[in-house]
Amino acid sequence: MTRKILVTSALPYANGSIHLGHLVEYIQTDVWVRFQKMQGHEVHYVCADDTHGTPIMLRAEKEGITPEQLIDKVHAEHAMDFAEFLVEFDNYHSTNSSENKELAQGIYRALKANGKIATKTIEQYYDPLKNMFLPDRFIKGECPKCHAKDQYGDSCEVCGATYSPTELINPFSAVSGATPVRKETEHYFFKLSECEDFLKDWTRSGTLQAEAANKMGEWFASGLSDWDISRDAPYFGFEIPDAPGKYFYVWLDAPIGYMASFKNLCARKGLDFDEYWKKDSTTELYHFIGKDILYFHALFWPATLEYSGYRKPTQIHAHGFLTVNGEKMSKSRGTFITARSYLDHVKNPEYLRYYYAAKLNGTMEDIDLNLEDFVARVNSDLVGKYINIASRTAGFIAKRFDAKVRAASASPVIVEMRAAAQAIADSYAARDYGRALREIMALADKANAYVAEAAPWDMAKKEGQEAALHTVCSDALEMFRLLTLYLKPVLPKLATSIEAFLKIAPLEWNAVQNGLNDGHAIETYQHLVTRIDPKQIEAMTEANKESLQPATQGHSQVRHAEAQQHEVQPVAETISIDDFAKVDLRIAKIVDAAHVEGAEKLLRLSLDIGEEQPRQVFAGIKSAYDPATLVGRLTVMVANLAPRKMKFGMSEGMVLAASDERGGPYILSPDAGAQPGMRVK
Ligand code: 2FM
Ligand code: ZN
Repeated sequence: MTRKILVTSALPYANGSIHLGHLVEYIQTDVWVRFQKMQGHEVHYVCADDTHGTPIMLRAEKEGITPEQLIDKVHAEHAMDFAEFLVEFDNYHSTNSSENKELAQGIYRALKANGKIATKTIEQYYDPLKNMFLPDRFIKGECPKCHAKDQYGDSCEVCGATYSPTELINPFSAVSGATPVRKETEHYFFKLSECEDFLKDWTRSGTLQAEAANKMGEWFASGLSDWDISRDAPYFGFEIPDAPGKYFYVWLDAPIGYMASFKNLCARKGLDFDEYWKKDSTTELYHFIGKDILYFHALFWPATLEYSGYRKPTQIHAHGFLTVNGEKMSKSRGTFITARSYLDHVKNPEYLRYYYAAKLNGTMEDIDLNLEDFVARVNSDLVGKYINIASRTAGFIAKRFDAKVRAASASPVIVEMRAAAQAIADSYAARDYGRALREIMALADKANAYVAEAAPWDMAKKEGQEAALHTVCSDALEMFRLLTLYLKPVLPKLATSIEAFLKIAPLEWNAVQNGLNDGHAIETYQHLVTRIDPKQIEAMTEANKESLQPATQGHSQVRHAEAQQHEVQPVAETISIDDFAKVDLRIAKIVDAAHVEGAEKLLRLSLDIGEEQPRQVFAGIKSAYDPATLVGRLTVMVANLAPRKMKFGMSEGMVLAASDERGGPYILSPDAGAQPGMRVK
């Protein structure tokens, strides 16, 4: 039976580049969609840029352009990145679209008519210079727990505490630097607290992975609060009907963007929107998301749909986060890698698709991109095992048999390969791509063993072995065809070139049984995949190092609420003399310097700044300095940087060093006469 399936991936924010963290999800979804399409189902895969909210508004202002100009520019970049990673959306739209506005306002009106909207006056921090209310993430100050300075309004990056912005000590606006004032404002709320019974039922109906259902249990246990869905002007978004100066919070209209993108596709393709979204729809709807936005998709979203008269998702498919080399992606380590930078250096997107697929298993566990393992795995599986089957046998078909194959024999390997189709399909369907690929590579091993044992290169040298040689090479190519079919959801571009090489129609899942006909002519084999050179990876991480200082820990790919919407911090263009005076720069004497076990870039320095105990600082200068030569030197450090807990211990400051593409790092030295502990002004 042909199923009708609508699939979405989370909508990326329109103010930053797509990076390798994002790609886990798009690749995961794309593989699943391609697999379902190969099964012959009617599948529509839609996505869009998530364009609204304060960070986008401020970012545009900073760049001196309108938000519309910013989101147009980013839309083009995102669309290009996805296309080059072979993420094939049927539609890539924008939440700032007429469809979305109409749907969002309609949904809001329906919720209101159903008594699910309330208003409440709340008190919020307000920036008196910018004349705007400040989201938590745009308020900074001293952590109320550990007193680290310059922490965000919702959580402390030093001690990990979470709190409300009103608890911050000496708060200031990250937009203007002004001290925020508390101000009352009326907000609109969606009465989620009234949706508990419905949500409990929905959660139990097989819509969530086990881990997600457990998480929901925790949320139910702590009680559901009403959801604040309005923001005050100035805000880049849609105005709330009959509420001048009030806008929908970005997270209200973001998931509606799934519907809007599909609606836009319907208009272009003549599809029936209602068939997919009406309350009793028999079509299927799947949302692929990261585990960080489960709350939005498993609570707010189904409740919004339920009480505005639409269908609910069939399932939510949540995945874990990406780590690189076992750690959070980091700008200082060069592991915060954009999609574009990967393409510039590694070039072939299918290597990453393959590696991610090999790691994904359909749970919410985090996955690790170990760069060394990435090179080894791709080279060994794709080049050493898979492509090898064709490269060792196709030449004989061309040279000795006029490029014509024999129909495949009933060789046990071929029989086994065909019989594996269902198990492999089940793994793909369950998003356990790791299991699918293990199975496929085990079959590739068998194909290689078959070729190695038959040794066509020896047969070719002997008299009277023509027929056997023809059979072995034809069978090997049938094995190669089957492996190509099984790998096609992951490696679609390679599969297309192999279809051209084998001169066959695009492979669908049901082509498992249709081996090549007797006498079918193929093209001449040309090299299909090259090995990755580890130097490409080195060049990529080098190019992504923003600073050698460990302080610049990049944000993870975690995409939270509005809070995390910006990876570029909104700060004023210039700083005042008072701001500068906050930085306590001191002359420091390096009393000890040592390598740090397990750290590629760091040296551990002990710095005397005239305090009782020397300060321990980790500095990313290992590439340029032998620690022994540093001992005794004077340099300059930031003495009042909040201590940071690193993997190797606390770092209690920062050493200043110069670097750019011309070289470095070069640590700074004062002129003769400077003494440890002197202030640098
Ligand atoms: O977390 C994020 O990156 C959001 N832009 C995801 C939105 S998904 C959907 F709800 F729109
Ligand atoms: Zn703290």
